[in-house]
Amino acid sequence: MIKLHEEIAVQRSIEDCFRYVSDFRTVSEWDATARTSSKSTQGPIGLGTRFIVHCAVGPTKVRLEYEIVDYCPWASVVLVGKSRFFEVRDVITFTEKEAKTHISYTADFKYHLGLGSFENRLEYGMRDMGRKSLEGLKKALDTPSSPPTLSKCTARADRWVAPGVAMFSKWGYRRSVAQRKPDSTFLDGQHIVITGANSGLGLATSIALAESGADLTLIIRNPKKREELLTTLKSETGRSDITVEIADLSLMADVRAVSTRLLAKGKPIDVLINNAGALFNNYALTSEGLEQSFALLLASPTLLTQTLLPLLKDHTTPSRVINVVSGGMYTEKLVCQRLIMAPPEYQGAQAYARAKRALTVLGELWAEQWRENNIIVNTMHPGWADTPGVASALPTFRSITKRILRTSEEGADTIIWLARAKEAGDVSGKLFLDREPRTPYLLARTKESAAQRDQLEDYIDAQIDSASEA
Ligand SMILES: NC(=O)c1ccc[n+]([C@@H]2O[C@H](COP(=O)([O-])OP(=O)(O)OC[C@H]3O[C@@H](n4cnc5c(N)ncnc54)[C@H](OP(=O)(O)O)[C@@H]3O)[C@@H](O)[C@H]2O)c1
Repeated sequence: MIKLHEEIAVQRSIEDCFRYVSDFRTVSEWDATARTSSKSTQGPIGLGTRFIVHCAVGPTKVRLEYEIVDYCPWASVVLVGKSRFFEVRDVITFTEKEAKTHISYTADFKYHLGLGSFENRLEYGMRDMGRKSLEGLKKALDTPSSPPTLSKCTARADRWVAPGVAMFSKWGYRRSVAQRKPDSTFLDGQHIVITGANSGLGLATSIALAESGADLTLIIRNPKKREELLTTLKSETGRSDITVEIADLSLMADVRAVSTRLLAKGKPIDVLINNAGALFNNYALTSEGLEQSFALLLASPTLLTQTLLPLLKDHTTPSRVINVVSGGMYTEKLVCQRLIMAPPEYQGAQAYARAKRALTVLGELWAEQWRENNIIVNTMHPGWADTPGVASALPTFRSITKRILRTSEEGADTIIWLARAKEAGDVSGKLFLDREPRTPYLLARTKESAAQRDQLEDYIDAQIDSASEA
């Protein structure tokens, strides 16, 4: 049996330390050997929660199944991990002393398969690993933020279209996990508004941000989905204090109505996530006379953000607007007069890509305009994620790419990071994929003219006004 013991002291609240450490999904962010970690049981973290952790130990990969066997907020948590080679009991205790939280970590290893006879040889490496892991944990809880940067490897890939696009797959996500910084931020009391929160990326984002303690207002269009959404959030996170607003965001009247309701409540918004979207293969006008791709993907986030500005602006710490676009926009150049497509040339994927291109440009313009109001605006694209939206709009694409699609959680990861991470508050006007700022142009021919950028907002506003008059 090998017993490791390490202690650290960090300048974080005891609650934050306990929550971060006992959610063992974070272990891959700080442990020296853990490469991936996921929760394998449903529900909030507590007694009986299980995690699957994959570790790299020398040349060997080890799969561990952990279970929380004792859970005592904010004092201690005990986990037992089982693998083919060994069993480990981690006892982690938390105490407050001299304005710091002290974390004591003891790991008892018992080896199977006769490996016990190698204990003496293993011990030195194990102690080194234990020390490095606790240094990693201290860094994760203590590290001051630094602005996100583009890695050399990603910059190289983006210079060539094919490697750049290959990163949209789950391999791009996995590559990024290996090089990312830990994120131990919690969002207690922060008011976050998310559109399209009942499905795919929006749902994954809502669950993660609810787990982080955020005060959520979720905008969905179908009142029949409200109960199911609240039940899912309750069973996944234990939270039942979540507000749901109903609005068909392709209708400007509904966008105005939901904004008016939020303005009347007067609760400042810390983060607005413009996520709702759909790819419409068939051409149609909304009841207000706007082409539906343009209405939902561009007019709606524009009007929603503009009308919610009084709740977003002039906070002491910057509020954040996050626009969800699509890698499809890389194929299109912004030309305002081509944003609204009509038959016979209407093609859903093209109308979608044009709207997403315009929303990307809009993000840059807003970032500039609202800097002095302390609002930061960033745009992200999720890569290719297997969501209900992709299944219904792109069934052929989905069946071809199924094996390389990301999960909804992987696709939503950068939305969650942009909403939560300290360092994501240090940049504005950027496009992100996998927590890295990325070029908005993979093809030189898709760079818009200055005249088109200048026209964009007036063009969208005029269309919104025409819908309001309808
Ligand atoms: N998945 C991907 O690979 C991918 C790639 C690039 C970009 N995106 C973008 O990611 C965002 C989320 O998409 P997703 O893949 O998660 O799709 P999804 O599972 O279909 O989710 C889309 C969400 O938007 C909502 N929505 C659609 N039309 C609406 C309307 N008129 N009013 C209000 N809400 C509406 C949907 O509500 P209902 O459930 O009621 O329909 C749903 O909650 C979209 O902006 C999409 O363009 C996704």
